[in-house]
Amino acid sequence: MTSPNSFTAPDWLAALPTTPLGHWPTPLEPLHRLSAELGGPQIWVKRDDCSGLATGGNKTRKLEYLIADAQLQGADTIVSYGAVQSNHARQTAAACAKVGLDCHLLLSRRVDRSDQNYLHNGNMLFNRLLNAHVYTFDLDNFEDGRKNVMNTLEQQDKTIYEIPAGGSNAIGALGYSRCISELVWQAPFTPTQIVHASASSGTQAGLVFGNAALGYDIDIMGINVFHPEPDTLKQRISSLLATMQQRFGVVQSIEKLPIHINHAYFGGAYGQPTAAGLEAITMFASLEGILLDPVYSGKAAAGLIDQITLGNFDDHEHVVFIHTGGAASLSAYDSAW
Ligand SMILES: Cc1ncc(COP(=O)(O)O)c(C=O)c1O
Repeated sequence: MTSPNSFTAPDWLAALPTTPLGHWPTPLEPLHRLSAELGGPQIWVKRDDCSGLATGGNKTRKLEYLIADAQLQGADTIVSYGAVQSNHARQTAAACAKVGLDCHLLLSRRVDRSDQNYLHNGNMLFNRLLNAHVYTFDLDNFEDGRKNVMNTLEQQDKTIYEIPAGGSNAIGALGYSRCISELVWQAPFTPTQIVHASASSGTQAGLVFGNAALGYDIDIMGINVFHPEPDTLKQRISSLLATMQQRFGVVQSIEKLPIHINHAYFGGAYGQPTAAGLEAITMFASLEGILLDPVYSGKAAAGLIDQITLGNFDDHEHVVFIHTGGAASLSAYDSAW
């Protein structure tokens, strides 16, 4: 028997093994002061920033599936990828520390920022504390650097499990199918609208897949924060959905699923703050006591706030903002203020 406080995942989600890493369910909280300030729909926040793993974030859900898969395959070493200040990399380092796997993070200097805090503080400091091996490369010598690291690890007879950037493959994305199921289970209303930051495609693909598989009718708006061309993100989500369908079944016609991406809050480049994003961070902090970040959740919140201001949500609606984390990078971005 399940207690009213325990969430049980649907069978097809529960069938795949997970390694416990986070605190679930993450809270779902009404944002009364922000909602009153904007005068639109009731805004709720799904606190995936409170997932419990070394300051939390959306990668914890994906890593529960991915680390379980690595353990099943007998891996002793995780290799994963991201940008300098990647939240995924930091959560991967934390997951590895928790279960006793060796962690190697290959990070690209893809963001044009070179101040000491960007290069060494925030997630980079945490990576060191979490005992990860960190390598940074410029984009144009990334592949050579990667080959060198892999050769060295192979010569050391390591059993390697690679996790793609953002943990965004069919296994990792299941974490967000689980999230949408958890959200519907806990919400004291019928969710109709989700807004979240979208980058490597796994969060959005997982949400869209779960939405379809579980028969919900929630509009999922991904705010593109990574791809200069939003079509690239859309294609990645489509192809990940197709892989998920091949692997897990559950959804019939994947081609017809709506993939709703908003590119208006991207700004100049990935990793570069926008004025609207910084303003959104200030509003969430000063009205709700919630910390966002300038790369992901701040830009997504800028989208949420602007869409409400434009009147694009019904005033009687409940809009759920998934807080995907990221505040660990704030000290790396102090120069933005
Ligand atoms: C804080 C934060 N929010 C959102 C995202 C985007 O998630 P995804 O890469 O699954 O699209 C990421 C990771 O890239 C992130 O670190």
